[in-house]
Amino acid sequence: MKILVVGSGGREHALAWKLAQSERIQMVYVAPGNGGTARDQRLVNVNITDLHELANFVESEGISLTVVGPETPLAGGIVNLFRARGLKIFGPTREAAQLESSKDFAKAFMQRHGIPTAKYQTFSDVAQAHAYIDANGAPIVIKADGLAAGKGVVVALSLEEAHRAVDDMLADNRFGDAGARIVIEEFLAGEEASFIVMCDGKNILPLATSQDHKRLKDNDEGPNTGGMGAYSPAPIVTPAMHARVMREIINPTIAGMAKDGIVFTGFLYAGLMIDAAGNPRTLEFNCRMGDPETQPIMSRLKTDLVAVMEHAVNGTLDQIELEWDRRTAVGVVLAADGYPDAPLKGAVIDGIPAETPEAITFHAGTAEVDGQLVVSGGRVLCVVGLGDSVKLAQKTAYEVVDQIRFAGMQCRRDIGWRGLKH
Ligand code: AMP
Ligand code: GLY
Repeated sequence: MKILVVGSGGREHALAWKLAQSERIQMVYVAPGNGGTARDQRLVNVNITDLHELANFVESEGISLTVVGPETPLAGGIVNLFRARGLKIFGPTREAAQLESSKDFAKAFMQRHGIPTAKYQTFSDVAQAHAYIDANGAPIVIKADGLAAGKGVVVALSLEEAHRAVDDMLADNRFGDAGARIVIEEFLAGEEASFIVMCDGKNILPLATSQDHKRLKDNDEGPNTGGMGAYSPAPIVTPAMHARVMREIINPTIAGMAKDGIVFTGFLYAGLMIDAAGNPRTLEFNCRMGDPETQPIMSRLKTDLVAVMEHAVNGTLDQIELEWDRRTAVGVVLAADGYPDAPLKGAVIDGIPAETPEAITFHAGTAEVDGQLVVSGGRVLCVVGLGDSVKLAQKTAYEVVDQIRFAGMQCRRDIGWRGLKH
């Protein structure tokens, strides 16, 4: 059978890599893909991004099902469009994707359905936003309402920083329409975890847990990024915590959407903050898998992902169980010079070793130009190492990282540090 993966990042490389391992796969197409999916003999890049044209391609090639990586096509209604044309696709409809595409929608939803989250208020008026900050004090968190590629959140430690964020987003229009409304919310302290499930409209199938590293620099310093590395599993999510998150957050979210008249299908990613007393709260929802969380998660999945996807689009996720590699996977992102503000493109990449059972290098912002692999985006590669402990997985990952070279390469040296403490 043939499958299409939509997207071009490390997440999509990892999904396509895993799908292609299935014996039943004839071809995995990736639209538009990257330099890594171009080099993989089992994958074929398709240079189409227009959603109607993608649907035409799926029809003409006889592709059995489509898996969507990023949020933009989901918020743009790719699932609505494909379904209207009778094409099987795994992802949320445009309506369901509002859980991610509007922070105001997500917050109002959580409040209405009693799902634990930070206290908040939504503003489009600058003066009212400033007054709310003065009344509540710092630290406080300011978020652009719409999609901002992970960069629309300011965790303000001082009042001054908070007021500046309001001015940037509301007065100076830094995020365009995405920041025409902002959410201001209570600062939550604790440890984060990424909790991702698959939902077929009725059944919920949790994936392995993971933990992202959002800050650019070691010790969680520097600016927020799309994610500088992730590892799986996340030991903070104990079996008891897992049960609690399902009960208090995931199940009520799927049920709440249904109550509001929206059937949720696709990946649901709850970004959790777990406080010192062990209470989980939802920082955000994503309607897709995380990037880079997907890279370590897929590296650990032993079950045939094609079979999982078939159950997902046929509403039978209750009939499959996922089997995981017991090892820990640590994924280290190698980012371009200047990332996240102004990534420099064009540097030639050398030294990526061949995949082994212990280490895989997934591509993101790479392209093949005249037979050379070059940097084409902010997050360039994600090296995943597997090992019997966080420490061993880290060691394996960094051994590979140290072989890879490109001008201005940035990476953190401490991915998994929270896991080492548990
Ligand atoms: P989000 O895109 O909403 O997940 O926010 C990006 C990052 O900002 C999160 O991963 C957290 O590290 C941080 N963050 C967001 N909301 C809060 C909050 N209410 N309190 C503390 N940190 C937050
Ligand atoms: N790694 C965070 C995200 O995908 O949103």
